[in-house]
Formats: sequence, structure tokens, C-alpha cells
Amino acid sequence: MAAKIAVGIITVSDRAAAGEYEDLGGPALHAAATKYGWEVQAEAVVPDDIARIQEAIRAFGAQGCGLILTTGGTGIAPRDVTPEAIRGLMRVELPGFGEAMRAGSMKLTANAILSRALAAVVERSLVIALPGKPAGAVECLGYVSGAVEHGVKLAQRVPTSC
Ligand code: MTE
Repeated sequence: MAAKIAVGIITVSDRAAAGEYEDLGGPALHAAATKYGWEVQAEAVVPDDIARIQEAIRAFGAQGCGLILTTGGTGIAPRDVTPEAIRGLMRVELPGFGEAMRAGSMKLTANAILSRALAAVVERSLVIALPGKPAGAVECLGYVSGAVEHGVKLAQRVPTSC
């Protein structure tokens, strides 16, 4: 049997990192990842800070997480910097992920267009940046989950056929 995809989950939120409110996005993604048959290997809550987000992504990649999910900071508030953090590290962006997440979510809420959700390859990990609302993060993951296994293999440079 193929090894399970090792997942790192990063909640990006000033208030959750400060303990001002409970992190609900991380646990929601943990449950979703488990449902997909993946193995959650690392979890972190970091503030909306480019260096802190990048540090967590690098650390999870170094730990062997083939898939890194972030939740939060994809919008247009002054502190929303998750896309900038990822773009500062990535080798390539995968625009189809953002397109699919916004197209799917637009059927549920017009506000979906306000998310800059994206995916990219950082070192040997597939990184997917999801919106902050727990239900929205799980919904968005659902729109792209079918491509995750192949995307992780390509990011990890595992020989694979399409
Ligand atoms: N996508 C889905 N599927 N469901 C949602 O509820 N919320 C939107 C959008 N994408 C939402 C969604 C809202 S209200 C915002 S402001 C943006 O994601 C950005 O959210 P973030 O800044 O918390 O990442």
C-alpha cells in the first residue's frame, strides 16, 4: 500500500496565535485531511506575519510534509499576507487551484471572490493556502482534493505517470 500523504497544517491568525480565540480552522482541516486518508504530521498556529508563516512552511517541509495546508490571511485586510509569504518561497505557482477554489466557492458565497487562495510548490511540498473561515477552508480543499495526490508526487519528484 502506498504511504499516506504527510500533511502539515498552519493556521494563520493574529488572534488565534495570541490565544484570543480558539483555533477552529486547524482542527477542521485536520478532520478533513483524515477523511481523505492523509496523515496529519504537524500543526502550528502563527500570526499574520510573513517571516513566521515562511518559517512554519520551511520547518514542515523539512519534516517531510508533502502537503502543507494553510488557513487564513488570503483576503484583503492589511494583515492578510499569506499569499505574499508563499510567493516569497515558491518555485512555481499552480494557478488552477486558486481558480477552482474561487469558481466552486462562488456558487456558495459571492464573497469567495475576495479570497486570494492559491497553491504552489515550495521545495518538495505542495502548499495550498485556504481561506480562514473553517467551513470555507474545508469547502475549498474539497474543490482541489482530487489533484492533491498527483500534485504531491510531482512536488516530491516521485516518478509517476499521468
Ligand atoms: N470560500 C468559501 N468556500 N466559503 C467562505 O465562506 N469566505 C470568503 C472567502 N472565501 C469564504 C470563501 C471571505 S468572506 C473572505 S474575506 C475570503 O475568503 C478571505 O478569507 P481569509 O482572509 O480569512 O483567508
